[in-house]
Amino acid sequence: MRVLVTGGAGYIGSHVVALLLDKGYEVLVVDNMQKGNEKNLFPKAELVVGDIHDTSILEKAFARPIDAVFHFAAWKAAGESMTDPSKYALNNIAGSIQLLSFMEGKGTKYFVFSSSAAVYGTPQYLPLDENHPLHPENYYGYTKLAIEENLRWFDKLKGIKFAALRYFNAAGYDPSGRVRGLERTPANLLPIVMEAATGMRSGMEVFGTDYDTPDGSCVRDYIHVSDLASAHVLGLEYVIREKKSLAVNLGTGKGYSVLEILKLAEKVVGKPIPYKLSDRRFGDPAKLWAEAGLAERLLGWKCLYSDPKTILETSWSVYRDRS
Ligand code: UFG
Repeated sequence: MRVLVTGGAGYIGSHVVALLLDKGYEVLVVDNMQKGNEKNLFPKAELVVGDIHDTSILEKAFARPIDAVFHFAAWKAAGESMTDPSKYALNNIAGSIQLLSFMEGKGTKYFVFSSSAAVYGTPQYLPLDENHPLHPENYYGYTKLAIEENLRWFDKLKGIKFAALRYFNAAGYDPSGRVRGLERTPANLLPIVMEAATGMRSGMEVFGTDYDTPDGSCVRDYIHVSDLASAHVLGLEYVIREKKSLAVNLGTGKGYSVLEILKLAEKVVGKPIPYKLSDRRFGDPAKLWAEAGLAERLLGWKCLYSDPKTILETSWSVYRDRS
């Protein structure tokens, strides 16, 4: 089976490429390398460097038949999406529609989509299940929802079957060490903790210590990127087997606070990590964790690496080289 992975040199995309290659898929990566990292490229995967907005790039990618598309190429900083919505509309929404129109034209029937728990917005109840109302609080989350809605239309009208995978907090690195590219200018907690531990940054801030949580800092559901990767392959197998689309949460159902993660990180790296307690970050919900049973039941998915210790150890195995 020949598959296209957009954003395949990025953090999550490259982990999925690694697994697809393991499973014998023929993989073509399209990445404009703006956020992608050369260290995340695999010689066994074909590479087209360029943008999904560029029709000549997509013509090249679809020159030979593609059976399925895994779509990761997108901007993902929720804060930035509120100050520069056009950037997110053009790249995330318009880019996805461009891809869908090529799929339609070339007869590609399966789409695995990198969605986000951000489609739900602030939780009205926990754990967050797939029936929770969809009220994104930031424009980034809205772009993911808009793409999911378009996928539903392209399924109904053109028979493109999709798996929309709503990630909670993706973290960690490939346990066998094949993906070693660091994220550029990260905004997420785990890479920031790691950068503070290596000295790549002088320290970090804990955003908010007065939330209604056991230690006052925010609680999140951290999911190992290799567990996310396995759900993508299972998602594709599901849509092919069942001839049905689906939207599922990918999380563990357990939450950990920022301070818990930080303290465990200090144990894993074996030294204190410089941090200060700061004000709340705008737009952060206090608590967020998934009801993850649907993905388990429908896909037969199981998390193997998503305990915080493994997440931190696999991250440190990549970052420690920088310390
Ligand atoms: N945090 C800090 N200091 C930092 C960075 C983050 O204290 O330097 C805190 C945040 O305030 C938050 C927690 O760490 O409480 C996690 O923050 P992230 O930025 O890593 O992740 P978010 O929970 O804000 O968002 C992530 C993804 C979204 C996704 C969401 C779903 O980035 O795409 O998880 O759970 F929608």
